Amino acid sequence: MFFKKKKQTVATVDERLKHIAFIMDGNGRWAKKRSMPREFGHVNGAKNFKKVIRYCGDKGVKIITVYAFSTENWKRPKNEVDAIMKLLSDYIDDAVAMVDENNIQLHFLGDMSIFPPETRAKIANAEEVSKDKTLILNIALNYGARAEIAHACEVLINNGKTAVTEEDVSSALYTAHCDDPDLIVRTGGDLRLSNFLLWQAAYAEFYFTDTLWPDLDEREIDKIIDEFYSRKRRYGGL
Ligand code: IPE
Ligand code: IPE
Ligand code: MG
Repeated sequence: MFFKKKKQTVATVDERLKHIAFIMDGNGRWAKKRSMPREFGHVNGAKNFKKVIRYCGDKGVKIITVYAFSTENWKRPKNEVDAIMKLLSDYIDDAVAMVDENNIQLHFLGDMSIFPPETRAKIANAEEVSKDKTLILNIALNYGARAEIAHACEVLINNGKTAVTEEDVSSALYTAHCDDPDLIVRTGGDLRLSNFLLWQAAYAEFYFTDTLWPDLDEREIDKIIDEFYSRKRRYGGL
């Protein structure tokens, strides 16, 4: 009898893979493939968000960042933006519901001033009730990396800075509370960052997959993690 040897998968991650960031792309196409409205894709994308967070948490990843809505996504047709905004509230509720069970500390990255007061109160509450937990989950909402860097410059100017170090910039970004991503995963087949974590991505590893976000499953996450561990990060050295 011939048995095919099972490929080794990394059971739990270590210090080398502390932070994974996901560009959750492909919801609209996922729905289109099923002849459904794009909103249906966003609903299923939100469902998969929960699964992926749980699985990455189980794998020992300490920081997870997800790109949920960009500063450019407001350009979409009003009915789609409205549907996403309605879902946003569910997204926050889902994240809060995971706080205790999954030990999640929530952070929202981006300019929240654009959202109505009720949404901002929800966001502030989500961050407050989760602040003593240990697995960091960053949700990028109305987020754009260029806007983030410009905002950081403004913060530094307002603090009276006349000379600026790299550390100063990092500490004025929305991600000041965590280390930079080790790995950035983009679903949906496009090979670009779309204004995500431009500063923080300086030495991140990248993984692009054609899989549409609602279809990203545990098997593929294992494959992505294995691939990460096969890479050699040199940071400019040898
Ligand atoms: C990502 O999926 C979710 C958001 C940008 C809000 P898309 O809505 O971009 O889906 P595609 O890329 O059009 O398939
Ligand atoms: C990137 O996806 C933003 C999010 C996943 C939230 P987009 O669908 O907006 O990116 P582009 O427009 O294809 O670059
Ligand atoms: Mg897209």
